Amino acid sequence: MRRSIIVLGVMAAAFSTSVAAQSVDGKALYDANCKKCHGVAGKPSDGIKKMNPKIETFDAAFFAKRTDPDLVKGIAEGKDKMKPFKDKMKADEIAAVAKYIRTLKP
Ligand code: HEC
Repeated sequence: MRRSIIVLGVMAAAFSTSVAAQSVDGKALYDANCKKCHGVAGKPSDGIKKMNPKIETFDAAFFAKRTDPDLVKGIAEGKDKMKPFKDKMKADEIAAVAKYIRTLKP
């Protein structure tokens, strides 16, 4: 009896770990890694724009030009002054942050 309770406990722990891995927090990742350049709502500050004239606002026009795989690739590989994130974030984290930026209202 005692043994089966331990087995159940181990199974529950494994299950909750896999659930946690699926629900990566895109907002928390954005706030920690992207906000300083791209702005809290996807609109870079004037100062950042001055230093990086090519940085765009994450608005409908921006997303109209990019598919989800484009966003994931851009984040993973970086572009010019934006460093690649592929060594800093796992694939599911990059996917979550790409999904999150589509929800921003700049
Ligand atoms: C050091 C400042 C900086 C940080 C931090 C940063 N970015 Fe960028 N990002 C830029 C700049 C500058 C560009 C424009 C690059 C260009 O087009 O030359 C850019 C471009 C992009 C693009 C467009 C790529 C394309 O397809 O043209 C996306 C998407 C993006 N960033 C997402 C993110 C996300 C998500 C994060 C956080 C994980 C992040 N960035 C962190 C500066 C930054």
